Amino acid sequence: IILDGKSYKMPVVVGTEDEKAIDINNLRSESGYITLDSGYKNTGATESAITFLDGEEGILRYRGYPIEQLAEQSSFIEVAYLLIYGKLPTQQELDVFTNEIKIHTLVNEDMRKILDGFPSTAHPMGILSALISSLTAFYPESLNPNQSKEEVNLTIIRLMAKLPTIAAWSYKNSIGHPVNYPKNKLDYCSNFLHMMFAYPTEDYQIDPVVVTALNKLLILHADHEQNCSTSTVRLVGSANASLYSSVSAGISALWGPLHGGANQAVIEMLEQIKADGGDSKKFIAKAKDKDDPFRLMGFGHRVYKNFDPRATIIKKAADEVLTALGVNDPILDIAKELEEAALTDQYFVDRKLYPNVDFYSGIIYRALGIPTDMFTVMFALGRLPGWIAQWKEMREQKEPIGRPRQVYTGEKERNYVPM
Ligand code: MLT
Repeated sequence: IILDGKSYKMPVVVGTEDEKAIDINNLRSESGYITLDSGYKNTGATESAITFLDGEEGILRYRGYPIEQLAEQSSFIEVAYLLIYGKLPTQQELDVFTNEIKIHTLVNEDMRKILDGFPSTAHPMGILSALISSLTAFYPESLNPNQSKEEVNLTIIRLMAKLPTIAAWSYKNSIGHPVNYPKNKLDYCSNFLHMMFAYPTEDYQIDPVVVTALNKLLILHADHEQNCSTSTVRLVGSANASLYSSVSAGISALWGPLHGGANQAVIEMLEQIKADGGDSKKFIAKAKDKDDPFRLMGFGHRVYKNFDPRATIIKKAADEVLTALGVNDPILDIAKELEEAALTDQYFVDRKLYPNVDFYSGIIYRALGIPTDMFTVMFALGRLPGWIAQWKEMREQKEPIGRPRQVYTGEKERNYVPM
């Protein structure tokens, strides 16, 4: 291995990933140059005062406030303010923030022309990422790395205001319907639901149960420290890219099935079980099959070792929402059976295969009438204030451009011999 021009011999180059990691760690202490942690990539290099997460204890706090209290008692806009500005707003600050967002919910009519260029087969996440990046064309001042504090704040407000509009329009495009313009007398969540579901020729009643559930879901997804999309936003932003393009990159990262796509995978798995006759016990037995285990989606979590604190809150919300809406969906019954098995079956308990936030969020979104293709978009809507807060923190800390270190494992030197 070559590190900073010096070559080091590795005693063992074959074996399990763990063995390799140990050898590389030995090498690290020998060289003193680099910490290789391929599990976490470059994210361990980030200092942040936004979200505290303890995977062993299942603790999640935004700016010191427990997620449980925020999900039960606050609004998504209040949490967005908390994440972005570092403190809970006074009533007056909240009113100003809310009104500023309302002023900017419309997007330039030329954006509709870009939207019209997408076929209805385009995935809403692709449209969202493209249109958020396109905001740089309408607000080129966002490209200036030396923007004043006030100008940066206007960029933040515009993004908070316009992303729900673009998100709802990406859905309307996918079903070939005309878009709905924002109704600014409505609150943030209700306005989004109006833009999603109002049909031009009919009255649309916004159900308060749906608004409350959506508010909670968005709060639970608002930040999760240095995950794939968030570190992408910070990394892209560290090159002084505009907030719009940094968040657009984060949206692309979130689109990946292993990140934001996980709750969609849960619903697809439930559909698969239903199509097979709906026998959840059969699939639970298959999940335990040593040779060819069936992968249960939405179980366990990379950082949470015992339980996902968001799942505890969301499970309660899922029960309340399904009861309040009187939803009768066979897929949801299968989900309940799987959940029951995971929480009581020793095999699952021993392996800490508990249902995570993605297991329940898809179930609630489905009960709220949100189509599966929109699940990741909903995640992006919730994660937006977290991305903004992380981008802002990175800029305010004047962090240098990101450049992950690598350990070179290729050929040391080769001579080119022409053919
Ligand atoms: C998230 O909320 O971002 C996901 O749970 C993924 C993660 O944190 O790694």
